[in-house]
Amino acid sequence: MNVLIIGSGGREHAIVWKVSQSPKLTKLYVLPGNPGTAPLAENVNGISVDDHAAVASFCKEKQIDLVIVGPETPLAAGVVDSLSAQRIRCFGPSQAAAQIEASKSFAKDFMARHNIPTAKYATFSNYDEAVRYLESVDYPIVIKASGLAAGKGVILPETMDEAKSALKEILVKKVFGEAGAEVVIEERMTGQEVSLMAFTDGTSVVPMLPAQDHKRLLDGDKGLNTGGMGAYAPAPIFTSAMMNEAVEKVLKPAVNGMKSEGNPFVGVLYAGLMLTPNGIRTLEFNCRFGDPETQVVLPLLETDLVEIAKACADGNLANINIHWKNSTAVCVVLASKGYPEKVESAKFVTIEQLPYDMVCFHAGTKMENENLITSGGRVFGLTAWAEDIASAVKKVYANIGKVTFDGMQYRKDIARKALK
Ligand code: AMP
Ligand code: GLY
Repeated sequence: MNVLIIGSGGREHAIVWKVSQSPKLTKLYVLPGNPGTAPLAENVNGISVDDHAAVASFCKEKQIDLVIVGPETPLAAGVVDSLSAQRIRCFGPSQAAAQIEASKSFAKDFMARHNIPTAKYATFSNYDEAVRYLESVDYPIVIKASGLAAGKGVILPETMDEAKSALKEILVKKVFGEAGAEVVIEERMTGQEVSLMAFTDGTSVVPMLPAQDHKRLLDGDKGLNTGGMGAYAPAPIFTSAMMNEAVEKVLKPAVNGMKSEGNPFVGVLYAGLMLTPNGIRTLEFNCRFGDPETQVVLPLLETDLVEIAKACADGNLANINIHWKNSTAVCVVLASKGYPEKVESAKFVTIEQLPYDMVCFHAGTKMENENLITSGGRVFGLTAWAEDIASAVKKVYANIGKVTFDGMQYRKDIARKALK
């Protein structure tokens, strides 16, 4: 099969790395890819992912049998609808199904319609009404811009003043633009978070291994929120009873609900779960693989990802068996100085040879005059796997000095929660 992967981050490097091992593969392309994907696939330049017609002609010309879309933005923009209309097979949801991530107000109403456990909420587009509601509730709250805001649209205010000013920023000053035309105000819950991704063909749903992300910049879950500073899988806190509960109460109702509403969801359905004292609650759905969770989950997948993605696109997921390695993986994100605010870029990178059971997934790098340089906030996801999490943690930190660039910062406590 000829396969095209869309995206350029650490998640896409991990997808390319896994797909490149497929016995079904003839030729692998990635649009646009990054320097880490270049040795594994053909990086395609000169086509914008936003130009769906150009992506479709590329697929026709190269006889692409399967497209795997990495990020949410092209999914929310309808790239799968455009390609499917030309009979190009895609692993990823339609624009209507991608709303489950692209509109938090849609997602919350959807969860309510299908009894999927989540925090109490209300939705507003008017500032005064939102403030009146704030004043009427007597529990701590979270404020969320409804649309896609690159992970920055969630505010956890400590005081009423902070809450009001966040509402003003979003609804009146429009700091998130159209993504903030509506806000969701929800009850603030407590508990550990688990990222549970699942493969689905619109009817069947198969969960992957549970993972934990580390969203805060600094050790001990301190500092600013980021896109994710590291991850590990499987998360031992997530028991098989919890897995059962999540499949029955969250994943199946979500897949069945999307289908019954006429928007079957094909691809990766990612449930962000909180393990609260009252049971599992859904914080959010994403319509794609998580980043950095993918860097730890795909190395543990035994089954061919091309086979799974094709089966999902063809509605045949029930006919294949998905197997996982009896192993663990840990990923530490190596970020640029200044991340997640003002990032210092264009630093020279050196990478020494890593052990065979490690990969340095590229997220923010580029080639310039034959030198590898940094080009973003999160530069690499350094990933190791081993029979247990303690060994994987040891391995990743023992090898971290093999990657160097000026201003490199990373958390020293990734997966520590799993070792207690
Ligand atoms: P979301 O993008 O909706 O998953 O929110 C981003 C992060 O905000 C989550 O990973 C949680 O850490 C936090 N968060 C979101 N909603 C809630 C909630 N209702 N209660 C507590 N924390 C939340
Ligand atoms: N790691 C969180 C996400 O992919 O949205």
